[in-house]
Amino acid sequence: LEQNERESLFIALNFAKDFFVKNLQTEEGRSIGLSYFKERGFNPQIIEKFDLGYALDGWNHFLKAANAAGFEEEILLKAGLILQKEGDPNRLYDRFRGRVTFAIHNISGKPIGFGARILTKEKNQPKYINSPETPIYHKSDVLYGMFQAKKAIRDLDNCFLVEGYTDVISMHLSGIENVVSSSGTSLTEGQIKLIKRFTNQVTVLYDGDAAGIKASIRGIDLLLEGGLNVKAVVFPDGDDPDSYSRKVGSQAFQDYLKENSRDFIGFKIGLYQEEFARDPIRKAEVIREIVQSIGKIPDPIIRSVYAKEASGLLQIEEEIIHSELNKSLIKSQ
Ligand code: CTP
Ligand code: MN
Ligand code: MN
Ligand code: MN
Ligand code: MN
Repeated sequence: LEQNERESLFIALNFAKDFFVKNLQTEEGRSIGLSYFKERGFNPQIIEKFDLGYALDGWNHFLKAANAAGFEEEILLKAGLILQKEGDPNRLYDRFRGRVTFAIHNISGKPIGFGARILTKEKNQPKYINSPETPIYHKSDVLYGMFQAKKAIRDLDNCFLVEGYTDVISMHLSGIENVVSSSGTSLTEGQIKLIKRFTNQVTVLYDGDAAGIKASIRGIDLLLEGGLNVKAVVFPDGDDPDSYSRKVGSQAFQDYLKENSRDFIGFKIGLYQEEFARDPIRKAEVIREIVQSIGKIPDPIIRSVYAKEASGLLQIEEEIIHSELNKSLIKSQ
């Protein structure tokens, strides 16, 4: 029975994907959705590759089409595609309305959810509305773009990790296909396990703002704990991989990634370097943070390689680093 329900949910999600994709070719879809994608530099090939679409403006365009196709409302509710009006549960309406849609696929390419972006600058509306958790969409086990990226990740033995849907898509347009997105939420163990099915090397490319840097620092520690080899690139203030790649073009973007990839120690030192000269106490704090990050690495040989590197870069005796490492290892036992 549970298998039947999962199958029905997959069919409903696929119907919704087809509906949103087709909507993009309606008059409303062309003038609002397609022109929005064009403005962002998304061409028909990339729109098809990522199943991008458009949810018509109005309360129940999707619901009516799904009803006509014979879908039960209970399944549409469970699929997160429609909602019940508060205080009037018999009144049902579409979750996604007047927004461009980004289908979220599972690893075998089946749609399991959607992100939907607003097209106006309304301040009291969220920029993205996303599918809720459902029996077929466990957010903590999904990375956006993994279906389209998995082969390239394995072939290139590296996975770029970005924050947003449009970062993934723009990087494909720049010729970089080994990229997935954590969709603005903090990385989970399940997502790290998913990456490890394809590679042991991650390069974190979060947004060049305070939130992105904070998320990078947290993500890096989790990735290290997961036994992954981690690099990171910092973007100029206010840029993300999407905006930066469009600003400088594909070749300069690829060069930027090559020239600015740092291992996690170089990344942290780079962030705080200017403060070091003025403030030795701050330097001590950062050293402690770096040693704590090293302490999260499960492999003792890799740990010791990084301890040596940290000692050289930070000009701190390796002895001190090792004794700090031992302290934190004892604590974590
Ligand atoms: N996000 C979300 N809900 C929001 C804002 C963000 O789910 N209200 C998620 C989306 O997955 C988004 C990601 O967090 O792609 C990163 O957020 P942000 O950097 O703000 O958006 P961008 O991806 O850069 O989107 P855009 O370029 O369209 O502004
Ligand atoms: Mn389940
Ligand atoms: Mn951001
Ligand atoms: Mn962004
Ligand atoms: Mn962006």
